[in-house]
Amino acid sequence: MRRPLIAGNWKMHTTYEQALELARAIQARCGMAEYAEVVLIPPFPWIVPLSRQLNGSSISLGAQTCSAFDEGAYTGEVSAKMVAPFCRYVIVGHSERRRLFGETDAVVAAKLRAVLRNGLQPILCVGETLEERESGATRDIVERQIAAACSDLESGQVARLVIAYEPVWAIGTGRPATSADAELVASWIRAWFRERFGSGISEGLRILYGGSVTAANAADFLAVGDIDGALVGGASLDAREFCSIVEAAV
Ligand code: G3H
Repeated sequence: MRRPLIAGNWKMHTTYEQALELARAIQARCGMAEYAEVVLIPPFPWIVPLSRQLNGSSISLGAQTCSAFDEGAYTGEVSAKMVAPFCRYVIVGHSERRRLFGETDAVVAAKLRAVLRNGLQPILCVGETLEERESGATRDIVERQIAAACSDLESGQVARLVIAYEPVWAIGTGRPATSADAELVASWIRAWFRERFGSGISEGLRILYGGSVTAANAADFLAVGDIDGALVGGASLDAREFCSIVEAAV
């Protein structure tokens, strides 16, 4: 059985004080949840203080991106090696990184390798734009993004991946995919891994849905057999809303 994973991507939100309070409130209500793995993904500067605050709880931390390099003269970059003592996960290939910061499939692949090299687990985001969806290209786009990032990985590396299917048109819009649409894409993703790495690997792979997940719709997505959790943006900034999403995984 795959353990559900509910991850809150705070993006570039929260002050230091808000971050501590948000994590405290989430910890108080769902810090000991056994039915789901809870991951908070704050901005870089809050990772170390939050790791201290969350010490002893079952909540783990992630980073929103990382450098493809481990160290060196790369002004402004933060490496997976630097966050590794404090985090378990790193998001790679989020559509905001691809679209706003020019991250190509090749850059995403290099970052994914940096995450694996440093003993962390990548949350690889894939998903189509509205235009791509309307032209019937969803499967091609998602498979291209996965192939570019994963096709030459070894089985042991693939076993550490989490895939987040995030249709770009559903992110931050209040218009989520239907659970049936998400189920179809998740089944394509699992089939892609089954064909290349076998059913042992593909059946263990956790596939999340992301895009306007709220407390009101989380249970619909989590009821889908091929969906093993959620990558939550806006709704993860409200402790009560986020914990309700976590509790939908029971
Ligand atoms: O990483 C999270 C996703 O981009 C979803 O964001 O829940 O605000 O739509 P959202």
